[in-house]
Amino acid sequence: MHIPTALASLLPLCLLVDGIQLPAPSGPYNVGFTQHIFNHSTPDDPTPGPGTFYLTSIYYPTRASPAPNSSVPYFDPTSAAIWGEVFNILPADLQSLETTLQWQAPLLSERADVDKLKTWPTLVFGPGGGMNAGYFTSLLSELASQGYTVLALDHPGEAPYLALPYGNPGVVGWDIYMPYSDALVVEIYEFRRADLLHLLGPDGFPALVETYGAYFNAAAYGAFGHSIGGAAATGAMDRDSSIGAGFNIDGGLFGDSVNASMRGRPYFMTMNPNHFAQDADSWPLFAESYYNESKTAPGWLDWTTVEGSAHLAFSDVSLWVELLPQIPNTTAQVDLGNVTGSRMDALLKTYAGAFWEFVRGGEYDTALLEGEVKEWPEVVFNAKVRSNGTQRH
Ligand SMILES: *[C@@H]1O[C@H](CO)[C@@H](O)[C@H](O)[C@H]1NC(C)=O
Ligand SMILES: *[C@@H]1O[C@H](CO)[C@@H](O)[C@H](O)[C@H]1NC(C)=O
Ligand SMILES: *[C@@H]1O[C@H](CO)[C@@H](O)[C@H](O)[C@H]1NC(C)=O
Ligand SMILES: *[C@@H]1O[C@H](CO)[C@@H](O)[C@H](O)[C@H]1NC(C)=O
Ligand SMILES: *[C@@H]1O[C@H](CO)[C@@H](O)[C@H](O)[C@H]1NC(C)=O
Ligand SMILES: *[C@@H]1O[C@H](CO)[C@@H](O)[C@H](O)[C@H]1NC(C)=O
Ligand SMILES: *[C@@H]1O[C@H](CO)[C@@H](O)[C@H](O)[C@H]1NC(C)=O
Repeated sequence: MHIPTALASLLPLCLLVDGIQLPAPSGPYNVGFTQHIFNHSTPDDPTPGPGTFYLTSIYYPTRASPAPNSSVPYFDPTSAAIWGEVFNILPADLQSLETTLQWQAPLLSERADVDKLKTWPTLVFGPGGGMNAGYFTSLLSELASQGYTVLALDHPGEAPYLALPYGNPGVVGWDIYMPYSDALVVEIYEFRRADLLHLLGPDGFPALVETYGAYFNAAAYGAFGHSIGGAAATGAMDRDSSIGAGFNIDGGLFGDSVNASMRGRPYFMTMNPNHFAQDADSWPLFAESYYNESKTAPGWLDWTTVEGSAHLAFSDVSLWVELLPQIPNTTAQVDLGNVTGSRMDALLKTYAGAFWEFVRGGEYDTALLEGEVKEWPEVVFNAKVRSNGTQRH
């Protein structure tokens, strides 16, 4: 077949995939990114991973401006192939997603910045089961752009593939279609909780901060997570009083996190309308127990539902599906409810942003955390607990 020269010269252009940007972080800072491997043993690790370490990704504010084409890639090729097959998105399209993260950009050094931010709690995040922490990049980047230091944990072997920094080989984990038994879910919760507590302990983040002389707060934390990451945050709060507040994104409580005592620390829960199909009891019991504790002590809890959402809509997956084309004649194999990625993205950033501002004593739209507002009609309140037993259903 003869291809006219003019057309042939255009072909390579047609094969180029343009970079697709996630919604840009809205805070006053740009965002730096680094990773650290912490040695920590998981006895009888149930995953195919080594059980000898976990990965922490650190998102932090920087004044550095991004250099062209130098942002941290969103997807590694192995993960793009695995996740693309599940959601019927071409791996090349997933790999075209671009972050605004700058690898090891300089930390803030101006006195005014450091003095302002060094007392803000460091936020620790756990992704949903089987997911990489990077699939929450949009939310984590936003919080860092506001000024927070954000630590996100990956347990190697849990997600189908985890790329590692500094030339270490990536870790192949559980098959993406492997079903979780109830017993396995509890094991996942337990190693996640152990990783998180190690990170906050003396050999974890505090040691790293000391080594690098960073201004990061290694004494006061906030914990948050999606799905089982929310349970791990909650179980860790029960054991570590340096975590001052928790934000649970649609995460059923498993193992002993069902009985975790918050001792009055602020706690925000947000779920999809079908949450109870997966997790019938844990949230109502947790909220009731929180309420019982608050009758004689301080307390602050919000429990919301996002109408129209579904479990994975609370992650970047909803942005992948919105921003990237489907492989022709396929549909996305994922239930996102009837919400869009960009709406959920803005919603979570707004509510998580307001919550952490409230926790640290900053400025935020106070109406957001007190009940339904007209800007976000899909966010409805199921329960609210305030000090000394005041409650609203
Ligand atoms: C972690 O373990 C590896 C392998 O055993 C070792 O090479 C490395 O020095 C350890 N890192 C730290 C920070 O102890
Ligand atoms: C950055 O990428 C664009 C196209 O995406 C290209 O035109 C430009 O030359 C690249 N710049 C550098 C510094 O590589
Ligand atoms: C939670 O507490 C209840 C009531 O004390 C108890 O029956 C249950 O065994 C506890 N669950 C776990 C997992 O510790
Ligand atoms: C809360 O307190 C009530 C009244 O004391 C009690 O019946 C109920 O079991 C408690 N609920 C939880 C979840 O602890
Ligand atoms: C609620 O409880 C807190 C802590 O026990 C106490 O300081 C506060 O005065 C109480 N408020 C009311 C209205 O009783
Ligand atoms: C989306 O679903 C919710 C129920 O979960 C419903 O209240 C809402 O009307 C739906 N919105 C649209 C635009 O279909
Ligand atoms: C997609 O489906 C339509 C209608 O069935 C068909 O005409 C078209 O050839 C299909 N495209 C591909 C790429 O399979």
